[in-house]
Amino acid sequence: MDKLMPSAGDHQLQNYEQMRDSFTWSDVEPVFSWYKSGKVNAAYECIDRHAADGKGDQTALLYSDKNRNESHTFEELRKSTNQAAHMFKKIGIQKGDRVFVFMPRSPELYIALLGIIKAGAVAGPLFEAFMKEAVRARLEDSEAVSIVTTPELLERIPYDELPDLKKIVLVGESEYPDKRFYSFYDEMKASPTDGNAIEWMDREDGMILHYTSGSTGKPKGVYHVHNAMIQHYQTAKWVLDLKEDDIYWCTADPGWVTGTSYGIFGPWLNGVTNVVRGGRFSPEDWYGTIEQHGVTVWYSAPTAFRMLMSAPKHALENADISSLRHVLSVGEPLNPEVVRWGMEAYGHRIHDTWWMTETGAMLICNYPSEPIKPGSMGKPIPGIKAAILDNQGNEMPPHEMGHLAIKSGWPSQMRSIWKNEAKFKDYFYFKGWYVSGDTAYRDEEGYFWFQGRNDDVINTAGERVGPFEIESKLVEHPAVAEAGVIGKPDELRGEIIKAFISLNDGYTFTDELKTEIQTFIKSELSAHAVPREIEFKKQLPKTRSGKIMRRVLKAWELDEPAGDLSTMDD
Ligand code: PRX
Repeated sequence: MDKLMPSAGDHQLQNYEQMRDSFTWSDVEPVFSWYKSGKVNAAYECIDRHAADGKGDQTALLYSDKNRNESHTFEELRKSTNQAAHMFKKIGIQKGDRVFVFMPRSPELYIALLGIIKAGAVAGPLFEAFMKEAVRARLEDSEAVSIVTTPELLERIPYDELPDLKKIVLVGESEYPDKRFYSFYDEMKASPTDGNAIEWMDREDGMILHYTSGSTGKPKGVYHVHNAMIQHYQTAKWVLDLKEDDIYWCTADPGWVTGTSYGIFGPWLNGVTNVVRGGRFSPEDWYGTIEQHGVTVWYSAPTAFRMLMSAPKHALENADISSLRHVLSVGEPLNPEVVRWGMEAYGHRIHDTWWMTETGAMLICNYPSEPIKPGSMGKPIPGIKAAILDNQGNEMPPHEMGHLAIKSGWPSQMRSIWKNEAKFKDYFYFKGWYVSGDTAYRDEEGYFWFQGRNDDVINTAGERVGPFEIESKLVEHPAVAEAGVIGKPDELRGEIIKAFISLNDGYTFTDELKTEIQTFIKSELSAHAVPREIEFKKQLPKTRSGKIMRRVLKAWELDEPAGDLSTMDD
């Protein structure tokens, strides 16, 4: 397909080539209040700064779900997040403590999360679908001291087995089993809306801890600091193209990095009205949300676009989505076919963006002012150097496939993997470079093209899943002897999870057993970690040291040559 040319418009990144040569990240700093004081708090910059600038009455949050329809101004959020910060301080939360938020999307979630950051603690967002073992792994690893949750989700938190978890704040009517428990609404009511709510931080102090999956080991805590906001702010301006009067909707849950970097920080640092839709996906609801709020800028993901593409036509025909001016995507490869459909259905180019939990913010993107090559992730933003490296860490010429790497040192780069220096160092194997784990190539015009992961990490419906966590859980089932998990290509979800298992003596593989194993994973980890396909094998391919060779399983599945088998056990 040919390039899709930009439409005329007053885009905030007009001169990509010129900016790429002249821009430095320190150019952004004067925007923020810390420029004068030397101290910072990202929550202040998101909310209070706008209230102080005379924009207090502007709508900051438009929240809707089946039962609620609310709007909160910047001034209202300034007060409620102050109350939340006071609450956390009063119950004993200290600077640097890890405080988790584990609840469905609601205004309270956003107020709590910003309150945690205002209080100087490190916010740990947990996706609401996580089950007990997934919750435990994350709270344990981070030594979380507190969690904000709902009474409905409480049974998934093994608080009696987590000695560090001393304060549990419940959002909703409930009994309070003991002194560890607090009522969010009561504590909020009892807290002042002003006073010294804000803990003033250094730029390198911790702000947010996002757990994500790799190909080996338990989920890892990706640690981000307040300084990340420089890049959240600037990319939201350049790439989301946010302007003051925009109505912006990011469909991601704050349990994932897109839902914080661009569901909280990006829009609010720019003082823009942020739409949050609670509840599950449905084409009618989603188009209805755009119509109801007059959404102008929309950031979503390929699986969602593919689901909308296959939805009955009337869903789109019945909605007025003419308010849209700019549409973007992230999280998985965006098929050229979807981009083509977007032009027809919406009359807009869907702008792909590439980044990761570890990178904290967008790095390679398509801009409103630049041509789009459908299938390409776009070009590095000004201030970012991206390259394709060979196995020795040398930069490769255009059109050769290799490791997608970024020159280390951008503002929103993760600062550590929580309590795991070795894992952190792995990313910087080639001196000076952050190596993403993605394979890609670059063309002669500087556009980058995603090819795949070069580890076993699975991307299903844009959600990143580690095979190890699922394999470990599978073998806990009494029937399962060994397990190997891979991502299998799927038209709708990008990949689905497929498990190969061998069984313990005395068990036979039946449909009932398969369903039982799926239910087991769902109840212990989460619905999105469930293998949609399970295949029985007498034996799994292993190295001589006993490691299951996922690469071989994948080759079997795809009917491809399995490559070098010299390390495989007979
Ligand atoms: O493989 C890449 C894929 O998602 C991975 C990062 O996942 P996560 O940390 O969950 O963050 C997702 C949202 C920021 C990457 O290593 N990925 C992300 N964006 C794209 C993508 N793959 C292809 N095209 C993209 N635009």
